[in-house]
Amino acid sequence: MDKTSSSKRNILITSALPYASGSLHLGHFVEHSQSDIWARMLRSQGHEVKFLCADDAHGTPIMLNAEKQGLTPEAMVDAIREEHWRDLQAFGVSYDHYHSTHSQENQELVSEVYLKLKAAGHIESKIVEQYFDPEREMFLPDRFVKGTCPKCDTPGQYSDGCESCGSTYDSTEIKNPVSVVSGTTPVMKESKHLFVNLKNFEPMLKEWVASGSLQEEVTNKLAEWFEAGLQSWDISRDAPYFGFQIPEEDNKYFYVWMDAPVGYLACLKYVCEQNGENFGPWIDPDTDHEMYHFIGKDILYFHSLFWPAMLHGANMKLPNAVYVHGFLTVNGTKMSKSRGTFIKASTYLEHLNPDYLRYYFAAKLSDGLVDIDLNMEDFRQRVNSDLVGKVVNIASRCAGFVKKKFNSTLSESLHNQALYDEFLSHSGAIAQLFEARKYNAAIRQIMALADKANQYIADMAPWVAIKDEARLGEVHQVCSTGINLFRVLMNWLAPVIPFTASKAEDFLNVKLDDWYAINKPLLGHTINKFKPLIRRIESETLDKIIEQSKQDLAATQATLEQPKSNGQLEADPIGDEIDFDTFAKVDLRVAKIIDAQHVEKADKLLQLTLDLGGETRHVFAGIKSAYQPEDLVGKHTVMVANLAPRKMRLGVSEGMVLAAGPGGDELYILEPHVGAQPGMRVK
Ligand code: 2FM
Ligand code: ZN
Repeated sequence: MDKTSSSKRNILITSALPYASGSLHLGHFVEHSQSDIWARMLRSQGHEVKFLCADDAHGTPIMLNAEKQGLTPEAMVDAIREEHWRDLQAFGVSYDHYHSTHSQENQELVSEVYLKLKAAGHIESKIVEQYFDPEREMFLPDRFVKGTCPKCDTPGQYSDGCESCGSTYDSTEIKNPVSVVSGTTPVMKESKHLFVNLKNFEPMLKEWVASGSLQEEVTNKLAEWFEAGLQSWDISRDAPYFGFQIPEEDNKYFYVWMDAPVGYLACLKYVCEQNGENFGPWIDPDTDHEMYHFIGKDILYFHSLFWPAMLHGANMKLPNAVYVHGFLTVNGTKMSKSRGTFIKASTYLEHLNPDYLRYYFAAKLSDGLVDIDLNMEDFRQRVNSDLVGKVVNIASRCAGFVKKKFNSTLSESLHNQALYDEFLSHSGAIAQLFEARKYNAAIRQIMALADKANQYIADMAPWVAIKDEARLGEVHQVCSTGINLFRVLMNWLAPVIPFTASKAEDFLNVKLDDWYAINKPLLGHTINKFKPLIRRIESETLDKIIEQSKQDLAATQATLEQPKSNGQLEADPIGDEIDFDTFAKVDLRVAKIIDAQHVEKADKLLQLTLDLGGETRHVFAGIKSAYQPEDLVGKHTVMVANLAPRKMRLGVSEGMVLAAGPGGDELYILEPHVGAQPGMRVK
């Protein structure tokens, strides 16, 4: 290899470990694409890269999901790991290995980390009082208790916060608590829990933050957390729990978030053992081995406080950086199952080449925490215009002449060496932009150069010159220059669009996996027949993906077997029995939504204006996560018309609109059958 880079580095790169529950969706692939591009780029520069991930297999939701499906947790997490790994590979994500946190290496490693923390005096125990399901004989995490909001009296709220009025509260404050697992009333019960004393690590964490390798937004967030005071971290759970038993304790289990990040290293240990390599230097604080974690902004706390503290307490190397990205929105809003924008990776892959999405994400990703929007129409136009219209076009304009007139062999010298050199002069800056995760800026530079290459070919017009026998030599050199420029662009884009790069390798008859190989142009080199490398995206294909995603939702609801994407179990127990007279007091009416507005400073609420057959009512409804206001106007729905007006923080709500579903984007307002008129009584 013709290397001009500095010396070879040892680099561990990880993505957050997906929960072993539910399918991977496009939201996951922002991160897997981001980390994969980084890993491929650093590999192409000749570094020793270990790019690793695994399924996050433990915890109560996974245990209960398995039970619901009639499977052992082990069997369920094995099956899901296989599905995840299949989708990841199909997307071109080049993990060197995809492990599971439910592995022997992980059990050994998490026990070792814990015992070191304990020996150093960082573990303390406290008695904790928690909801307990007496029928199932299990403690219930917050999300497994539902009840009536103590602030606004909305029923069916989780015990840690209300989706209707947005308030958060202590789980003991919720009224009429019910166990989501069995439907019984939980009792409060005490139990001993183990904690990591995070305060002990404050000076070391501050020093780590000050080292300057974290993003500015992350540093600011950490400053807020330091300011608020670090709390000890509860790392134990009682049986029954799917996880690892804590050594030297009686029937206590490691909380899933304790063994999950250790899973990064367990996967590395496994890989090292398989390859006969030494694991030690990777965790030794005194080596210059590097460690980077790519994560979403929702799990920053675990990765920037708990994880470095655990590593430090166990005398292991700290991460060089934690790289945080934002969430994915689709068409400007949160991914929504009902709108068909909650797209499973496998659904996308049935219809489209993964390179399209990888390219689009790269063109939008920066080094910040901002959310990324996948706008379907912009996606189609961008891919068609950049990849098909600009990059591949260069090759397709030149390839035919080289094949037909010059025996598929490139000229011995370039027609425009200066242009080639100009392209090369950008290579270092583009590499730096990729390494700094400013992919959007790297792509902008690459596309500006693609424009330049196209302009050059247009100016030279080989299709005109070819008609003049005396200019054949010039045509040969021009087309060879064009193909060389295409090769340079594809060499830079190979980490982003590996499937297209692989086809370009077949055409160019050269590998595109060495960042520096382009320093030498291809001269007197034989190329292969050009086949179209990539097709345009048609609008109909995107429509099909959306439609199929809506059907995926219907299938999920019909079987009720799939867990929610976040691993939470959905089971809403039937409420207490009431007599008919009590029911008859509820006056349900058909209402027409005549206006719907966002409410300032309210995450969950929309303000609806309802026509009740002559009378107008204003109602706040906690359905913002599932609906755009403009989609609601004109719809008929059902409301509780005789609910006493409720004074809320934002104004008075004069009734309640009925909606079904667990919450979030899965909320569906009730609509009467066509013909029902505003004001009609529902009976
Ligand atoms: O939030 C999540 O999806 C977690 N499963 C991520 C774990 S990352 C790491 F710590 F293992
Ligand atoms: Zn409330």
